[in-house]
Amino acid sequence: MPKDARSPKKLRSNRAALRHKVTYALRHPERVGPYVRRAGRDAWLRIKHPDHVGYYRAVMASDARRNPEAAVGSQTHDRWLALGQMQFEYLIEHGLRPEHHMLDIGYGNLRGGRHFIDHLDAGHYYGIDISPDILIAAKKTLTEHGLQAKLPHLTITGDLTLDFLPDDHFDVVHAHSVFSHSPLNVIEECLSHVGRVLTDTGFFDFTFDRTEGTEHQVLREDFYYRTDTLLTLARGHGLHARFMADWEKRPHGQSKIRVSRSPLPS
Ligand SMILES: C[S@@+](CC[C@H](N)C(=O)[O-])C[C@H]1O[C@@H](n2cnc3c(N)ncnc32)[C@H](O)[C@@H]1O
Repeated sequence: MPKDARSPKKLRSNRAALRHKVTYALRHPERVGPYVRRAGRDAWLRIKHPDHVGYYRAVMASDARRNPEAAVGSQTHDRWLALGQMQFEYLIEHGLRPEHHMLDIGYGNLRGGRHFIDHLDAGHYYGIDISPDILIAAKKTLTEHGLQAKLPHLTITGDLTLDFLPDDHFDVVHAHSVFSHSPLNVIEECLSHVGRVLTDTGFFDFTFDRTEGTEHQVLREDFYYRTDTLLTLARGHGLHARFMADWEKRPHGQSKIRVSRSPLPS
């Protein structure tokens, strides 16, 4: 993460604004070519897949075939390792125990998932993702880390209604770097259904790209929300919701919100 990713200036910048793009291009001319190529590819994928999930699945297919670690947002293997460890340590500090049942939404190539699978009792990890290509990469990670005996469930989903999952089942639901790639209707779909699959004492943690300025998106790949927008959305679906200030101390560019059916001790 760049050191200033959460500086007041960065939190207010609008990456979709022409002025921002021009300034950025002048400061980083070497990134203009790759950006233009990505914008061209994405424009074509959006024509082929007008719905967001279909479009983002195609983005993941294209990225994961080249490099699954980069496809989940880690430019180096060391960063991939660090990001997985960071997710795991945070949930351990927040009480994740082996007997818990966990739902990992958007498991990617198991950057964080491999730690959760290792920690939890066999069969207690359930992962869903929209991308068949990332499922193949996830199975490779699972094999490389010798986690077969833990029998995790890894499956593909087309939406976030969670309708194939049981009531009152998951102690922890987790979505890391998923809503940072999601328009509001996808987030709302998840928030309107997640309460049903959570236990009464369970919680759902999700990260998001925070802005304190204008909400915006870049190439429909990266979405920036104000904290209040997401807290209000969750509360509108009868959930308790709070901003996780302790996550802000971690070297990660995104912020975190926790929602639950019942009020949780802070
Ligand atoms: C940046 S990666 C993060 C992977 C993993 N959570 C981690 O942090 O290592 C985002 C993942 O979310 C998946 N994804 C994006 N939108 C999704 C959605 N609406 N439902 C489920 N998965 C989604 C993508 O396919 C991708 O594997």
